[in-house]
Amino acid sequence: MESTTSELRQSRGVIEAYREFLPVSPSTPIVSLAEGNTPLVYCPQLSERVGRGCQVFVKNEGVNPTGSFKDRGMTVAVSKAMERGAKALICASTGNTSASAAAYAARAGIPCIVVLPAGKIATGKLVQAFAYGARIVAIDGSFDDALRIVREVGDGRGFVVVNSINPDRIAGQKTAAFEIVDVLGDAPDFHLLPVGNAGNITAYWAGYRDYRSHQISTTLPTMIGFQAAGAAPIFYNRIVEKPETIASAIRIGNPAGWKQACAAIAESHGAIDIVSDEEILEAQSWLAKREGIFVEPASAAAIAGLFKCCDSNEAARSFRRIPEASRIVCTVTGHGLKDPDRIIRQIGELKPVAPTVDDVRRVIGL
Ligand code: F0G
Repeated sequence: MESTTSELRQSRGVIEAYREFLPVSPSTPIVSLAEGNTPLVYCPQLSERVGRGCQVFVKNEGVNPTGSFKDRGMTVAVSKAMERGAKALICASTGNTSASAAAYAARAGIPCIVVLPAGKIATGKLVQAFAYGARIVAIDGSFDDALRIVREVGDGRGFVVVNSINPDRIAGQKTAAFEIVDVLGDAPDFHLLPVGNAGNITAYWAGYRDYRSHQISTTLPTMIGFQAAGAAPIFYNRIVEKPETIASAIRIGNPAGWKQACAAIAESHGAIDIVSDEEILEAQSWLAKREGIFVEPASAAAIAGLFKCCDSNEAARSFRRIPEASRIVCTVTGHGLKDPDRIIRQIGELKPVAPTVDDVRRVIGL
């Protein structure tokens, strides 16, 4: 069957799909891995948890080329870097940005340097950065230290910083909001997502606003961001010197997008809230087992957050009296396979049995 023009546009990545909303020109060299166009999955079990005829959708960003939402911003940041004659890319990362930057640098044919907090990066992400050929520097410090160093090192010699402090990253990440509106026909009522360095919440809000100002949508969502309780500077309104959480992707104590995140929350009449590591792990397991979507712990913060809105008296925003038939989108930001260590430990040792039908029947209790 022949594909339609719009299908072709989508399969060529977010710049081709949304060129008119992005800072590119016909002469920008496009560096793409056909990112974006990720599934917006209706989740019946989550919808039932909320009740009142509400519909919950999960925007599954884990199916991007390097397994996280970072690819949307990276295609724009790296394309623009190439247009400006970049000699190398550099970034600080809790893991996903480094994987994405390394992949797009490989695609563009330039070196990539990643500065990471030593011992704090999930296995899958470190494997990715290495496989794509990045130069990896581990520091005895936090992500916040790494970003401070990168800001200085990247300030010249043709090194382009591809963290979300680079506005081209934010521009690219807006496309996730465009896709949601394109599928739903309008903006959702609520948008829930994890918050780390606070680039993504900034980007979604900008995307929703762009679409409304172009009259493609008629409403704006209420933005609700979730930080891990041990790494919640925005929630507590103070820098966290030693952030701690199992959700290593959002283990950040001084987010670069702090101000912008607060603006998105204030303008959308939204909220910032916290979820505990226990709640994060429970939500991760719940989403995999009940809806078939396996995400990394940081992503599960959005789902843990949804549960908190439904169940807890302490929620910054309660869904107990949520308007009937509200539409709620939760962004899950990264794939579960990136961070397998804790789950591997749960599997333990699998003792093999004899290769007979009888033995297998016995084990499964038939
Ligand atoms: N979820 C995942 C899986 C992430 O990797 C990140 C950020 C976030 C959520 C938070 O997004 O920073 O825009 O608020 N990861 C960055 C990195 C910091 O280096 O990969 P944010």
